Amino acid sequence: MAGGTLESASLFYQSTNRREMCYWISHIKLSRIIVIMLLILFVVSLFAHYYLSKVETNASGMDMHRTRLEAFDDFTSMKASDLKFRIEEMLRIKVSVSNELRDLEAKRQRLQLEVSGFNQKIDDLKQELIHQQTDLDRLKMSLVQAQAAHREAIERNTPELAPPRRILINSLPTNLKFTSSESSSCRMFNCFDHSRCALTSGFPIYLYDPDIFSVINPTWDIDGFLKTTIKQTLGYNAHLTSNPAEACIYILLIGEALPSNSQGPSHQVFPHPLHVKKLHSLPYWGGDGRNHILLNLSRRDLSINSSNMLDNSDTGRAIIVQSTFLRNQYRPGFDIIVPPILGPPGGDVWQECASMVPARRKYLLSFQGEIKTTKSLSSSGSTSRPIDDAEIDLERVEDENNLDKFIVQHLNDMTTGVTMDKFFIQFECIPATDDSVRGKLLDWTLCGTESSRKEILKDSTFVLILAPSNSSFVTTSSIQARIYEALRSGAIPVILGGDQIYLSYNEVIAWRRAVLFLPKARVTEMHFLLRAIPDSDLLFMRRQGRLIWERYMATAQGAADTIVASIRDRLGIPAVPAIQSPSPSVFNETFVPIKSDAIVAEPEAEESLGPLEPPYPSPVFKRNYTIMLIHGHEIWNEWVNPFYLYPQLPFDTVLSSDAKFVGSEVGFRPIGKGAGGAGKEFSESLGGNYPREQFTIVILTYEREQVLINSLARLYGLPYLNKVLVVWNSPKPPIEDLRWPDIGVPIVVIKALRNSLNNRFLPFDTIETEAVLSVDDDAHLRHDEIMFGFRVWREHRDRVVGFPGRYHAWDQNFHNSWNYNSNYSCELSMVLTGAAFIHKHYMYLYTNWLPQAIRDKVDEYMNCEDIAMNFLVSHLTRKPPVKVTSRWTFRCPGCPVSLSEDDTHFQERHKCINFFAQVFGYMPLLNTQYRADSILFKTRISHDKQKCFKFI
Ligand SMILES: *[C@@H]1O[C@H](CO)[C@@H](O)[C@H](O)[C@H]1NC(C)=O
Ligand SMILES: *[C@@H]1O[C@H](CO)[C@@H](O)[C@H](O)[C@H]1NC(C)=O
Ligand SMILES: *[C@@H]1O[C@H](CO)[C@@H](O)[C@H](O)[C@H]1NC(C)=O
Ligand SMILES: *[C@@H]1O[C@H](CO)[C@@H](O)[C@H](O)[C@H]1NC(C)=O
Ligand SMILES: *[C@@H]1O[C@H](CO)[C@@H](O)[C@H](O)[C@H]1NC(C)=O
Repeated sequence: MAGGTLESASLFYQSTNRREMCYWISHIKLSRIIVIMLLILFVVSLFAHYYLSKVETNASGMDMHRTRLEAFDDFTSMKASDLKFRIEEMLRIKVSVSNELRDLEAKRQRLQLEVSGFNQKIDDLKQELIHQQTDLDRLKMSLVQAQAAHREAIERNTPELAPPRRILINSLPTNLKFTSSESSSCRMFNCFDHSRCALTSGFPIYLYDPDIFSVINPTWDIDGFLKTTIKQTLGYNAHLTSNPAEACIYILLIGEALPSNSQGPSHQVFPHPLHVKKLHSLPYWGGDGRNHILLNLSRRDLSINSSNMLDNSDTGRAIIVQSTFLRNQYRPGFDIIVPPILGPPGGDVWQECASMVPARRKYLLSFQGEIKTTKSLSSSGSTSRPIDDAEIDLERVEDENNLDKFIVQHLNDMTTGVTMDKFFIQFECIPATDDSVRGKLLDWTLCGTESSRKEILKDSTFVLILAPSNSSFVTTSSIQARIYEALRSGAIPVILGGDQIYLSYNEVIAWRRAVLFLPKARVTEMHFLLRAIPDSDLLFMRRQGRLIWERYMATAQGAADTIVASIRDRLGIPAVPAIQSPSPSVFNETFVPIKSDAIVAEPEAEESLGPLEPPYPSPVFKRNYTIMLIHGHEIWNEWVNPFYLYPQLPFDTVLSSDAKFVGSEVGFRPIGKGAGGAGKEFSESLGGNYPREQFTIVILTYEREQVLINSLARLYGLPYLNKVLVVWNSPKPPIEDLRWPDIGVPIVVIKALRNSLNNRFLPFDTIETEAVLSVDDDAHLRHDEIMFGFRVWREHRDRVVGFPGRYHAWDQNFHNSWNYNSNYSCELSMVLTGAAFIHKHYMYLYTNWLPQAIRDKVDEYMNCEDIAMNFLVSHLTRKPPVKVTSRWTFRCPGCPVSLSEDDTHFQERHKCINFFAQVFGYMPLLNTQYRADSILFKTRISHDKQKCFKFI
């Protein structure tokens, strides 16, 4: 059933040969006894035969030598009657002797039978003894483990710390006095009321319904799209509360404000959109607006257009969230810079993006814009808003504009200079932009339509973005919109004047990984710098830019979540726990599945592989308050997202080896109690750098009940197994009289909502371990292979660790595209999840984070879910999977052949690979030439020592 696990010629392991071999080795004594017995029997029968033949020849007188002489004597000295009598007697003797011999022969045969019967019994007993010995070893081992666990439980004098009660403030903000002049010195410590936001409060946020609470002057309207989208997207946010008395922060949408249509276009006469009185009389304003978040989002990238920027409205202690800030207005660490909302409310956005390769595109650098001249500033005093601030430094204005003029001049020279590099630099838009805009602003404006710019950006390695000529702006929505467009198309932004501006969420997003910030004075060095960047870094920056764009900018949902998350992050409150999938049982409450106790012990069970322990779930949520501190950078800029708290991460920190013995022993099972050792000690403890743990097996199945039952039965006695999950993909429930094997651990049969291969990676709440072994229902893995895989996974927790390796091959001759390949190869890039360990974390991500288009493709083809998982993990970690050992018995003999054998299965997998690469924008899979075998594998060791595993 499940995909590619099936198509390869399997490597059957000849377990019979091996068994014979070890049988002889371990049974030398027995065989010696048998040899002696056979020897005795042989000698006895030889004697018997000799005697018999002698008698027979005597009687029949056929002997040519001695008997003839004797007979002659007899004939001469005997009468005929005597002779007759003697002959008769001889005949009688002969009959009796041969009867006796026959009896003897029968007896011999009987004895021989008996002997071989006894031999068989000895064999069986020996076998039994070995089993018993292994069982005993295992029991001893398990006992030691249980004792260790018991000791730990006793020694831990501090009981598990119960989480503190969730503190909710449960009172509305009271009125405090506030003078508006304090506003500009606001920081978190003096303007934010932390008492409303306890660490364990869960960060409740309250949204003033934008349809009810308006703080905008009646001549203005808040953008309708924003109103509905913000309400909707924050509605999905798990922190949202409808009870204002318990809220930590109060969110109010104040923009983007647009002149209301009824008033006509006479823009100039409009008062400032914000109605301060209304703002101050908001029900929870509390006199100073503490813990209020004013969202002044913009949707148009020229909203700098509105000239009311400097209107110092009294916003009290509220935090302002917007895209345009003046330097003296922006309060670092308090206000939040956000990108304009330019994308759709939510959904997949990957189609918008251009492919990331080739690293170098047609144009090295592009720019499309137009600058206002100083002339237009000085001559347009009438259109400019009268400036109260008399001390405006006109000389600086001149200087700044001279610098910009110099930049334009230099860039023009650069494009016409002698170089192989191509530029697309456009300093004059055709047709010229609207004059009213031109006169009012001293800034760069854009050329072209969005789609014409997109075409150029797709062809540009870098795109030049110029910081506002007016350096009073620390950020503008126009600059942010340029960044948005650039990242979407994979053009790496180069910001000239980058030292004078901030980009969005600069507290948490590491923009330097995706954007080049240059002082304007570097314009002459820019070309040299851009040429000096290697392809690998180009691609890294492009990929990083796309990550930021997709996660935080592309959709309104992302923007809303990011605003909330960045404030929560600032307060050190953990995110909400990630959502797990429910695991409804396929059986109803009254039905008790029939257990069968006919357990066939695995032939390889004679190797003792580890203790059998009671179920031990992996600890969860241990790092609620440190994960944002230690991994904050990675969470915001690398793997996954800051929106959810995951119970464990594959990247969790590791203790140093000495701590395992000094002070932090709990849970560790060092090999030989720290003294180390070979196979015997190894099999007794998990060792390694992580505390003890177990794993869960997840089996996806579809209407192959007997195959499944056989696979389940083989799991009996598997050490470190916590639980088995069977995902029942068929709409038909299991037949009632199906006998479920009792394998010593719970088997949970989960009813799938629909038949989908994506169900294999649902983050089921019944999975209580970090390690998940995903197997096909017909996979036949030996216990030692599973054990070894588990131990290897414990060292590569962030990767797919498993058995069947595959790779993606470049098809140069045919379409210049990717092919899925399952041939023997010394390089691979995927390990199929028909038999692989993965971290549960990746199941959350597969289900909730991967673009929906990929899961849809998996459903469309009923194929490729294993390829998708490899893409996901390689994308996040930039590491290839780990293949474990060469021997694995994969296909079950005699199982029904699955649909995947045929050619369409392969064709689909080619298509999947190419489609997934298109969605990711690049090929995330990486090659590896490495395979894990146990350390003493094929090492000669002394006889009193055991290898780590007998066979791998
Ligand atoms: C800028 O303002 C002018 C008039 O004041 C208006 O016509 C124009 O549409 C505005 N531009 C944007 C992008 O809002
Ligand atoms: C909201 O932002 C726009 C520019 O994006 C600005 O003109 C307006 O003054 C801002 N409103 C407030 C209340 O700051
Ligand atoms: C920069 O812009 C601000 C706000 O629009 C304005 O007050 C100031 O005069 C401008 N500075 C220059 C040098 O034009
Ligand atoms: C539970 O399931 C069994 C077998 O599927 C069925 O016979 C029985 O009627 C069911 N009971 C209820 C209460 O649905
Ligand atoms: C950590 O967060 C989880 C999920 O919100 C919660 O269940 C757990 O009790 C928290 N642990 C601590 C120590 O706060």
